[in-house]
Amino acid sequence: MRTEEPRPIRLKDYTPPAFAIDEVNLDIELDPKATKVHSRLSMRRMGDGPLRLDGEKLKLLEVRIDGEKLGANRYSVDGEHLTIFEVPEGDFTLETVTSCAPVENTALTGLYLSSDIYCTQCEAEGFRRITYYLDRPDVMSVFRTRIVADEKKVPVLLSNGNPVASGKLKGGKHFVEWHDPFRKPAYLFALVAGDLAHVEDKFTTMSGREVTLRIFVEKGNEDRCDYAMGALKRAMKWDEEAFGREYDLDIFMIVAVSAFNMGAMENKGLNVFNDKYILALPDTATDADYAAIEAIIAHEYFHNWTGNRITCRDWFQLCLKEGLTVFRDQEFTGDMRSRPVKRISDVRLLRAHQFPEDGGPLAHPVRPDSYIEINNFYTATVYEKGAELCRMIHTMVGPKRFRKGMDLYFERHDGEAATVENFLDALSDGAKIDLTQFKRWYSQSGTPEVLASGRYDAARKTYTLKMSQVCAPTPGQPMKEPYHIPVAVGLVGANGRDMKLQLDGEEKPGATTRVLHLTEREGTWRFRNVTEKPVPSLLRGFTAPVKLNAHLKERDLVFLMRHDSDSFNRWEAAQRYATGLLLSMVEARASGGTARKGTGFGEMIRDLLTAKKIDPDFVAQIIALPSEQTLAQMIGRDVDVDAIHGAREELRASIAAQTKDELLSAYERMKVDGPYRPEAEDAGRRALRNVCLSYLAVAPGKDGAALAAAQFREADNMTDSIAALTVLANIEGPERIAALDAFYKRWQKNHLVMDKWLAIQATSALPGTLDEVKRLTQHPAFTMKNPNKVRALITSFASMNQLHFHDAKGAGYAFVADKVLELDKLNPQVAARLTGAFRSWRQFGPKRRKLMVKELKRIAGTEGLSRDVYEIATKTLA
Ligand code: TRP
Ligand code: ZN
Repeated sequence: MRTEEPRPIRLKDYTPPAFAIDEVNLDIELDPKATKVHSRLSMRRMGDGPLRLDGEKLKLLEVRIDGEKLGANRYSVDGEHLTIFEVPEGDFTLETVTSCAPVENTALTGLYLSSDIYCTQCEAEGFRRITYYLDRPDVMSVFRTRIVADEKKVPVLLSNGNPVASGKLKGGKHFVEWHDPFRKPAYLFALVAGDLAHVEDKFTTMSGREVTLRIFVEKGNEDRCDYAMGALKRAMKWDEEAFGREYDLDIFMIVAVSAFNMGAMENKGLNVFNDKYILALPDTATDADYAAIEAIIAHEYFHNWTGNRITCRDWFQLCLKEGLTVFRDQEFTGDMRSRPVKRISDVRLLRAHQFPEDGGPLAHPVRPDSYIEINNFYTATVYEKGAELCRMIHTMVGPKRFRKGMDLYFERHDGEAATVENFLDALSDGAKIDLTQFKRWYSQSGTPEVLASGRYDAARKTYTLKMSQVCAPTPGQPMKEPYHIPVAVGLVGANGRDMKLQLDGEEKPGATTRVLHLTEREGTWRFRNVTEKPVPSLLRGFTAPVKLNAHLKERDLVFLMRHDSDSFNRWEAAQRYATGLLLSMVEARASGGTARKGTGFGEMIRDLLTAKKIDPDFVAQIIALPSEQTLAQMIGRDVDVDAIHGAREELRASIAAQTKDELLSAYERMKVDGPYRPEAEDAGRRALRNVCLSYLAVAPGKDGAALAAAQFREADNMTDSIAALTVLANIEGPERIAALDAFYKRWQKNHLVMDKWLAIQATSALPGTLDEVKRLTQHPAFTMKNPNKVRALITSFASMNQLHFHDAKGAGYAFVADKVLELDKLNPQVAARLTGAFRSWRQFGPKRRKLMVKELKRIAGTEGLSRDVYEIATKTLA
């Protein structure tokens, strides 16, 4: 047990800072064991209270005020703070000299080394591991940073803003001085230094300024940056066109490093990236990798306005920058690629990660009201649900008014540390909408459920739609007030066409899709002049993050999956149909009864594959079966992972048997000729071809492994290679071993490709997978010190291999708990994420529940546990 219970931080206790820092001057002399930081802060008193600076893992060498050295009786230091008892009344300069040890920093927050490159990560509270500071986002300052290092070993020295001076020093050292003219909180500070190579390009902004763009990588990787650079230029252009936002410094830099806790970080003018989201060549990166690179480059770039120019007052406002920036990057991707496919994959992600979070022990509002460790709140709820809240406003007011609201937000708050209230006020004033009730979405946790039912009155030619909402209790929130839920609705006629909609009280029929506002617990809408019984298409485009229950009959789902003009709802109908079928199959397996027979899904696949005109990417999405995790979530209690796996495999095989010829023919037709291009069009063909492969692998005739083996041998790109290898990794036999071996031999020097090799083995359904994963933890391709490796092998196993993580004897749980405890000593942030694998323990039967709780208790009861893991483990048990 921890000797001291960590105390939660609460939103309601917020008070403004007692001091302002007008200027920061840093002089940093790099050394792996003892980096010396000399900081000079121009300070000004703003309110009452002592001067208490944050600082962790620092060695304090000196403190001065206005040049005068302070004796030890004038201040106190503990593991987290430096408190100075008395400071001058007016302005003063506080100087500290401290030292820290980047080489010992395995937590990857603060200043650390990533394969010999000095690198920082300051969000959320990492700056305090570099120097004593008021490390909170509402303290904004102008930074001047001078970096000193050995000229030969560390030739490149980078920080935020513009370089203003550089030169040689004695003893083989050199320096570069950077100045960032924009006031910023310390979490946006960055320093990167090392023997880096770079590629360069230019971008001319809409007002005609030329900006230098540089991507820095480890030497030898220069040829892998082209796609990232192109994506950056597309993002810069898009933000000008879509939001009128221009870049504001003369230089924009990105650095790719291999040891990084998250995806990337938006430090002002100097974004730092997990190299997985920068480096790409066709033979090493998949289509999914390319798409992620484009999206994350855009995300970090967009933060320059939503996050940096307007930052957050405190960490409770995290969604202000993250939800909004995710919304912006989603829109960007929608414009660059296929909009419907992007929407489908975003909703998939929301349901796979955010819904379970919102329905489990770690549920929290989009704006949480308390936390123990802020790093635990970079969640799907803050990011993805936060983006949905922005999207709902966008849906309700339309693009033009939304833009007006955003313009007003930038106008009012540029240069400030803002709150969710500031954002909603600006949107409500600029877009002319009352968001008073809508605001509840930010403070109430849980996923609302919407119940809908319709009645057609043939005599009166009316269609009456009733909708109601409920939201189940979540931790700390037994009761919820009704949400303001926008529901886009269409009515589809027997000919498959949308009807024009005319609500009661309206003069004439209007648009075919209407947004209805469900604001009470219940609402009723009556449509007039409805000439025949329609099939309702509800929540088109998924206009609200809710669970909809519309009681649609199987034949209505079949009808919608063929005819709905809304692509999202076509996909949704197909998924519901397949889910319904699978759930009845799971039940049959459990009870020994017989499952419902349904050939509709197979028929739809046949129709789609033989249609004259198809959008391959969309077809790939619609014909893919719901995941095992999705099915477990739908079942919700006493989940039987073996029955789910068995049912899904059975359905896959029966669809494959039913449509083998069509699958084979599509598999041939979708082959992309010519050199690899990562663009959405070709990627879509590959996606469809590889879904066909995954069905064909289990089609009768037993030639699935041969087909996959052939694709694996012939593939000239990583997408096809990985798809084939994934299939082979799930089929026992010589092909499997040969393919995994060949892949390893070919790519062992490429650490990013090795991550894929680890993940494929960790997610295999074959018996013996857990032992294989254990063996792989000893393999040279794996190390606990690199988060990407941990995620590839251990997190993939724990969160994507439902079958083996939930091993009936508890061996999977014990293994993952061991790894959590081992990792917690090195990197608490990543260890806490891994602990999240246990969050759904209540979904399982009593035996598994007991085993999971036992491991959670073992974790929570461990001496010296980090705050990060402590918070997740104890809240999961609560
Ligand atoms: N702000 C980053 C983003 O773009 C998230 C992030 C990167 C982060 N590194 C981090 C958050 C480390 C916490 C800790 O979304
Ligand atoms: Zn972000």
